[in-house]
Amino acid sequence: MPILPRRRGPDRSAALAQYRRRARFYDQELALFEPIREQAIASLNLGPGATVLDVGCGTGLSFGLLEQRLGRDGRIVGIEQCPEMMANARTRVQRAHWHNVDLVCAPAAVAPIATQADAALFHFVHDILREDAAIDNVLDHLKPGACVVATGLQWAPPWMWPANGFVMAAALYSVTELASLGQPWDKLRRRLRDVVFDTALLGGIYILSGRCDPAGTKH
Ligand SMILES: C[S@@+](CC[C@H](N)C(=O)[O-])C[C@H]1O[C@@H](n2cnc3c(N)ncnc32)[C@H](O)[C@@H]1O
Repeated sequence: MPILPRRRGPDRSAALAQYRRRARFYDQELALFEPIREQAIASLNLGPGATVLDVGCGTGLSFGLLEQRLGRDGRIVGIEQCPEMMANARTRVQRAHWHNVDLVCAPAAVAPIATQADAALFHFVHDILREDAAIDNVLDHLKPGACVVATGLQWAPPWMWPANGFVMAAALYSVTELASLGQPWDKLRRRLRDVVFDTALLGGIYILSGRCDPAGTKH
């Protein structure tokens, strides 16, 4: 595993600056990873009328695929702390005339969530998954047994050095907490049951899904 600066937890102002800079080009940068998004959203097993929390929704790149599954009677709650990313999400919603999307511009740990949702998506939101309070706030607003899917970067096995080169470069560019790239999903996993774990990019990307377990171990 490469040696990287160790930080105790995510750095909110660094994350805001990171995504303020990236907001304009973000959608183009993510184009290569759309198959992972499709896999993640398919794993949510959403049906018509369901409500999903899109945690760290960014520019709303997941909204189209979510809308296809939820339909008009469903609801998306997009939570995003970076105003520039959220502005792009808002534009996307307005252009598509989606009337069933609530956008909450706030850190995930304190975002007001006015529902008990059927599912939650954490798509490439490493910093959020390293914050106990953020996981608590989201899981407190899920129905028992709700489906939860998380994806993101992780260290591949050491011999997969090309994958780890990519993970290191991508992490330096997109997250502010690097110490936990070995098991970035561990805090969330403790709160879920029926966990299924998959990987892509030679192990450098994880796709974890499970069910919200009210008896799960809090930090
Ligand atoms: C790599 S982007 C992923 C965006 C989106 N999920 C997607 O699939 O394209 C990470 C997003 O998480 C947001 N973020 C990071 N920390 C956050 C926090 N504590 N609360 C809410 N949003 C956060 C960033 O501003 C950024 O938009």
